[in-house]
Amino acid sequence: MRLGINIDHIATLREARKTNQPDPLEAVFICEKAGANQITMHLREDRRHMNDFDLKRIIESSFLPVNLECALDHDILDMACSLKPARVTLVPEKREEVTTEGGLRLDSKLKTPIKKLQDAGIEVALFIDPSFDSIFQACELESNAIELHTGRYANLSLELFTNLKRTHNALKLNATKANLEDELTVLKLASKKGLDLGLKVYAGHGLNYQNTQAIVDIKEIEELNIGHSIIARAVFVGLPQAIKEMKEICGSDGRF
Ligand code: PXP
Repeated sequence: MRLGINIDHIATLREARKTNQPDPLEAVFICEKAGANQITMHLREDRRHMNDFDLKRIIESSFLPVNLECALDHDILDMACSLKPARVTLVPEKREEVTTEGGLRLDSKLKTPIKKLQDAGIEVALFIDPSFDSIFQACELESNAIELHTGRYANLSLELFTNLKRTHNALKLNATKANLEDELTVLKLASKKGLDLGLKVYAGHGLNYQNTQAIVDIKEIEELNIGHSIIARAVFVGLPQAIKEMKEICGSDGRF
């Protein structure tokens, strides 16, 4: 299973002081040395963590493929077409959210931007909830890939296995083992459907050292994008060690 590291939180820490450290580009080099397969970064419309200069420096200097997450923002998409990250993952964005809360709503207005990115040689993934409807639409839109939102699964596992009732998006999900199993089944069926329809299948959001193994076991998923838990662990054990531990869960990797 390939592991993409979402390094937004490095920039979040920098922005807490509006200074120049920690530098997300330094994180890119550490991720590379520690055996990560991809750098994932989200350029938000409000530039609350990563900024345009980070995007440019990271794409120009990274030896790992860069997966740029962004909303349907025409300025950012134009920037992507000229800087050419390996992939653009289109995500929904709300100013008031702490992190991306749900999958993208798909409709035909995505068709032109998807084609424009692809014509620029960029793979396109759509960050969607694991529903068959969304998968059929992603296929119709001729996206190359889907990234399945694992947030509901992650929230259920947090509610079930910790005393944490207070996550920013605690949804009172009625966390029972049966509901968690059901959500895993939903993710498995969605992954299979995506692959059957010719889409590459990735997943991410809220994955951590406790809940990732069950997602790794879904063989149709070829890549995970993980940020918060790895950077959180890195605070205590360092980034190389935090990546090493997550890579052990992900198993043998297939480099690009
Ligand atoms: N994948 C996508 C599309 C995301 O938007 C995010 C969060 O920015 C992640 C993966 C990583 O989520 P987390 O930080 O919860 O691991």
